[in-house]
Amino acid sequence: MPVPRTVEWVPDVPGRLAPGHVRMIDQTRLPAELAFIDTADVRAIWAAIRSLQVRGAPAIGIAAAMGVAAAAQAAADDDPAAVVAAANRAAEYLAGARPTAVNLFWALDRMKSLAARSRGLSAPALKETLAREAMAVRDEDAAMCRRIGELGAALLRDGDTVLTHCNAGGLATAEFGTALAPIYVAAGQGKKIRVFADETRPLLQGARLTSWELMQAGIDVTLICDGAAAQVMKEGRVNAVLVGADRIAANGDAANKIGTYGVALLAGAHGIPFYVLAPTSTMDPRTPDGSGIVIEERGAEEVTCGFGRRTAPEGVRVYAPAFDVTPHALIAAIVCEKGVLRPDYGRAIAEVTRKSAAPAACR
Ligand code: MRU
Repeated sequence: MPVPRTVEWVPDVPGRLAPGHVRMIDQTRLPAELAFIDTADVRAIWAAIRSLQVRGAPAIGIAAAMGVAAAAQAAADDDPAAVVAAANRAAEYLAGARPTAVNLFWALDRMKSLAARSRGLSAPALKETLAREAMAVRDEDAAMCRRIGELGAALLRDGDTVLTHCNAGGLATAEFGTALAPIYVAAGQGKKIRVFADETRPLLQGARLTSWELMQAGIDVTLICDGAAAQVMKEGRVNAVLVGADRIAANGDAANKIGTYGVALLAGAHGIPFYVLAPTSTMDPRTPDGSGIVIEERGAEEVTCGFGRRTAPEGVRVYAPAFDVTPHALIAAIVCEKGVLRPDYGRAIAEVTRKSAAPAACR
């Protein structure tokens, strides 16, 4: 495992899952310090998601699922209806933390629907069931990332250099990552893969997180300013672009960290394949195309005064979308745990997001 577990559920008493609490790497402190947040407080979990202490679409979903399980514990042990009500209240609250990553809503819907289906249980059994489900959300994400890594590694040749934007690695998921997973698998297969990591303004997920986690894993990584991506492509140094996603619409349009769309255009201009890697929990078949994806806007100070140092004049007007949408026409393939999807993405996404979808159907 390249980095410690990004988010996990820690039972407080041996032999039982509940009561328990959430343990998360505090990603705002990386790379200076590997520190953890331990909490069962749903407000602290909301704040951790909002402030990007835990970030990356799948990791947000896992933290939120665990937040619901933690909140349910506060209800009385003789009142199952109160446990369900506490779980629902927490889910509604956590849904307001960030708007773009669909994994958040996917995980919360899953927790709410389990609570609704478990009404016949005693309160302690309900609490245990919710904690187990939150752990399952984590474990399933880890398995999906492994599979994405295996499928994606087949797209990489020995000696390839990959460019990535933001952090879609182990820190953004249960473990292993989505866009970085093929790099880890390929390295394990003995392929020599090099990586250019875009620094990813304004919050520097590429500089602070991707380069850190790749170095931890012994992968050859070179950090570049976002503005250098065109030049390294023009110099013929990049064989493929691998990025994650926060939400993939029904037609394959993919939202990811601001700057990703520009990287996709550059890749297209240089004839470099641009791959999006994401689990089916990131797919949103109810949103027909990218125009329906809500793009989070973040505070001006993240651009003008990032990391405590003023880099723009006081009072300057700022527009700070945190994500952009890459049109599906620029995407060479979408790699999910069920296969390597190629156009027509509408058909392929409908197939893999159907509950009974056969794993090989999308190859
Ligand atoms: O604002 P962030 O850091 O949560 O944005 C994260 C990204 O854009 C990731 O690329 C995306 O969530 C995929 S994570 C596997």
